[in-house]
Amino acid sequence: MNHIVIQRRDSARHNPARAAFAADVQAGLAGAMKSLPAKYFYDRRGSELFERICELPEYYPTRTELGLLQRHAPEMAALIGADAELVEFGAGALQKIRLLLDALQRPRSFLPIDISGAHLSDAAAALARDYPGLQVRPVAGDFTAPDLALPQRHAQARGRAGFFPGSTIGNFTPEEALCFLRQAARILGEDDAAGSGLLIGVDLVKDPALLHAAYNDAAGVTAAFNRNLLQRINRELNGDFVLDQFAHYAFYQPPQQRIEMHLVSLTAQSVQVDGRRYDFAAGESIHTENSYKYTLSGFRRLAEQAGFRPAAAWTDEDGLFSLHWLALG
Ligand code: AVI
Repeated sequence: MNHIVIQRRDSARHNPARAAFAADVQAGLAGAMKSLPAKYFYDRRGSELFERICELPEYYPTRTELGLLQRHAPEMAALIGADAELVEFGAGALQKIRLLLDALQRPRSFLPIDISGAHLSDAAAALARDYPGLQVRPVAGDFTAPDLALPQRHAQARGRAGFFPGSTIGNFTPEEALCFLRQAARILGEDDAAGSGLLIGVDLVKDPALLHAAYNDAAGVTAAFNRNLLQRINRELNGDFVLDQFAHYAFYQPPQQRIEMHLVSLTAQSVQVDGRRYDFAAGESIHTENSYKYTLSGFRRLAEQAGFRPAAAWTDEDGLFSLHWLALG
């Protein structure tokens, strides 16, 4: 019996995903300014909470971007052209891509890249059923990894068009965003084909009161999403965080044009994770996420630095959100 328990523990310790999570949590909590990487929000519960955030009245990005896609998909499809190969970075439920696919002429192939292989193959199978002429080739992997490689372009595809909706680029620092855009330009522009480029959703700088409301919703879903990270650490890394001892705190920083999310310790307390102790002073925070906002011109400059040619941008009447077509070649 003991023997079996020890084996289970050992295999858990040799799980590379767990090891990476443990190392990132340790590095983040041991520093003078505590932080945790935002990518760990998205376990099963975190993904469900994020889907609920997307439907909140205060959280304008999702419905505004969907409105832009519904209204302007024919123009976007004309820029991408017929016989395209589409590459979605960080594909989740694959809902938004359908709006684009419906407007495109003879899309040939679709490569959704996502770290969560299981979730990806279900969503990809459903898409393949609904679009019989489309070759769907899911790629399980980290689209920010510098060595990311894609399978060969579909023989009949003319160009490669990337799709990165949701303003996920806002969760990168500007340096990371530039790195990602350079990497996307490399992958999408490999064959120098016409119609290659990137269609990307970018949240815009706006009235801080609107931004504040979007990350401090009245129903407390964003607070639950933020705190779920501690729950995940408790479950996966033997942590003992007491969730209601940490307050959700999100605010806009105008100089950096970003929302910062934090979890603030309400008391002086010690927490154990994987057998290590971390001390918190009352009021000390864990920085859990940045969500950068851009001006249209600021984002265009960044895209140009990465080698793209910003060719078109669409925004809603209130200037809340933008979609950009960044051409290559
Ligand atoms: C996924 N990402 C673009 C969201 C955002 O708005 O930065 C994540 C999020 N965090 C709190 N609410 C939503």
